[in-house]
Amino acid sequence: MGSSAERPSEAGRRRVLRSLRGRLVVASVALITVVAAVIGTVTTIALHSYLQRQLDTQLTDVSHRAAGPPGLSEPPHREALDFLTRGGQPVGTVGAVVAEGADEVTKASVSVQRSEDSRPGGVTAKGLSAEQTDALDGLPRDGRAHTVSVPGLGDYRAMAVSGGSSGEELLVGLPSDSVDGTVDTLVVVEVCVTAGGVVAAGLAASGSVRLALRPLRRVARTATRVSELPLHHGEVQLRERVPEADTDPRTEVGQVAVALNRMLGHVGSALAARHESETRVRRFVADAGHELRTPLAAIRGYAELTRRGEEEIGPDTRHALGRIESESDRMSGLVEDLLLLARLDAGRPVERTTVDLVPLLVDAVSDARAAGPRHRWRLELPETPVEVDGEPARLQQVVANLLANARTHTPYGTTVTARLRPPHDGGGARIEIDDDGPGIPPETLPHVFERFARGDASRSRAHGSTGLGLAIVQAVVAAHGGAVSADSWPGRTVFRVELPG
Ligand SMILES: Nc1ncnc2c1ncn2[C@@H]1O[C@H](COP(=O)(O)OP(=O)(O)OP(=O)(O)O)[C@@H](O)[C@H]1O
Ligand SMILES: [Mg+2]
Repeated sequence: MGSSAERPSEAGRRRVLRSLRGRLVVASVALITVVAAVIGTVTTIALHSYLQRQLDTQLTDVSHRAAGPPGLSEPPHREALDFLTRGGQPVGTVGAVVAEGADEVTKASVSVQRSEDSRPGGVTAKGLSAEQTDALDGLPRDGRAHTVSVPGLGDYRAMAVSGGSSGEELLVGLPSDSVDGTVDTLVVVEVCVTAGGVVAAGLAASGSVRLALRPLRRVARTATRVSELPLHHGEVQLRERVPEADTDPRTEVGQVAVALNRMLGHVGSALAARHESETRVRRFVADAGHELRTPLAAIRGYAELTRRGEEEIGPDTRHALGRIESESDRMSGLVEDLLLLARLDAGRPVERTTVDLVPLLVDAVSDARAAGPRHRWRLELPETPVEVDGEPARLQQVVANLLANARTHTPYGTTVTARLRPPHDGGGARIEIDDDGPGIPPETLPHVFERFARGDASRSRAHGSTGLGLAIVQAVVAAHGGAVSADSWPGRTVFRVELPG
C-alpha cells in the first residue's frame, strides 16, 4: 500500500524535474544556495580570524604586562601569577609558570570570580588540576599564540613569554569562548537567513518562471489542438493560430509562435489545394462515368441487336460481337464501381432503412451458388432476424463482392461459408465470409482493401478482375459506420464485416 501510494508521487516529482519550469527553479535555487554558502563561509572565516587576531593582541598585551617589570602601583616583589588577580584581563585567564631549568609547568592557576564578591575585578586565583596543567605543558614555547584546549575550562589562546630576569617562563592563556560564541551565533544567523532566502527564492523563481512560460503553454495548446484535427482527409478548415499577443518576434516564444503560425498557414493552403485537387479528380471521374454510361449501353445494345438480328453473320463475327457485349458489360460494371466510389468519397450519406440481414444473405448466397455451381456454399444463420440501419442495395453489394471473391480467387470444390451473427455486446451485426481456398498472397494482404490491388495482376486482369471489389466493400462499410477486416493463410481466408445497429 505504502509503495503503491509512493509511486505516483515519485513519478510526479520526476515529471516536475524534467519540465522546463522544474529545471529552471531547481537551477536558480541551487545557484542561490551555493552563492549563499560561499558568502557565509567566507564571512565566517573572516570574522573568526579578525576576532582571533584581536584576542591575540590582547593576549600579547596581558602576557607582556605579566612578564614585564612591576608598575608604580605594584609592590616591588611580586609573584609571577599575581597578574591574575590584578584585573585588566577577563575572568578565566590562565597563568602558569615554568621554573628556570624545568621542563614542565611548576605552578598554574586560573582567575575566577570571588563568589561573595561580584564587583568587577573581584577575582581570585584558583590552582589548576594536574590534568589541566598537563594540557598547558603541550603549549609550544615560541612566543606566539596557539590554541590550547584545557579540560574543564574550554579552548584558550595561549602563549609563553620569558619571565624577565628571574629566568622562569610564564604561560598566559585567554579564553576564546567569546570568539567561538560570536562565530557560532553568526553561523546560526547565516543558516536561518540562507534557508529563508532559499525558500523565498524558490517560490519567487517558480512564480516568475510560470509567468514567463505562460505564452509557451498557449503555443503548445495551439499545437495540440491542431494535432487533434482530422487532417488526413476531406475538407479541412485549419483556422487554429497562436493568439496575436503571443507572437512578439522579440521574444523567443514569440519567434516559435510566429514560425508555428506561418507553418499552419502553409499547411492550411496545402490542405486546401489537396482538397481542391481531390474534388476536381472526383468530379472528373463522376462526369466521365456519366458520359461513358450512355455510349457503353449503346454499344452493348447494338452488339446484341446485330447478333440476334435477321441478318446472316459468320461465326467469327458472332464471336466478336459476343466479346464486344461481354467487354462492354465489364466496362459498365467498372464505370458503376468508379461512380459509386466517387460518390462515397464525396461523403454522400447512405440512405438508411432497417435491413434484415438474414434474407439478404440467403439471396446473396443463392446468387453465388448459381454463378459458381462447382463451389460448395454453406450458410450459418441465427434463428432470429438480425437488423441494421443501412442501404439494402449497398449492403447487398458488400456481400456479393465478398462472395464473388471467394468464388473467383479459389479453385472449384472450395467450401465457402457465409456466417451471420449479432455481436456479443448486442446491437449491430457481424458478417463473416470464410473459404478454405489457397488464401491471399502475404504480400497482397496488407493492401487488399486499396483500389486496384490485385493478387496475381496479370492473371486477375485476364479473368476480368479490376481490383475495386474490396475497396468498394470498405468504402460502403465505412459509410455505414462499420469496419471490415481480413485474415488469410493457406487453407483459410476470412473477411469480417462489423456493422453498427
Ligand atoms: N477469398 C479470397 N481468396 C484469395 N484471394 C482473394 C480473396 N479475396 C480477395 N483476394 C485477393 O484480393 C485481391 C483484391 O480483391 P478485389 O475484390 O478488391 O479485386 P478483384 O477481385 O481482383 O477485382 P474486382 O472485385 O474488382 O473484380 C484479389 O485480386 C485477390 O488476389
Ligand atoms: Mg473482387
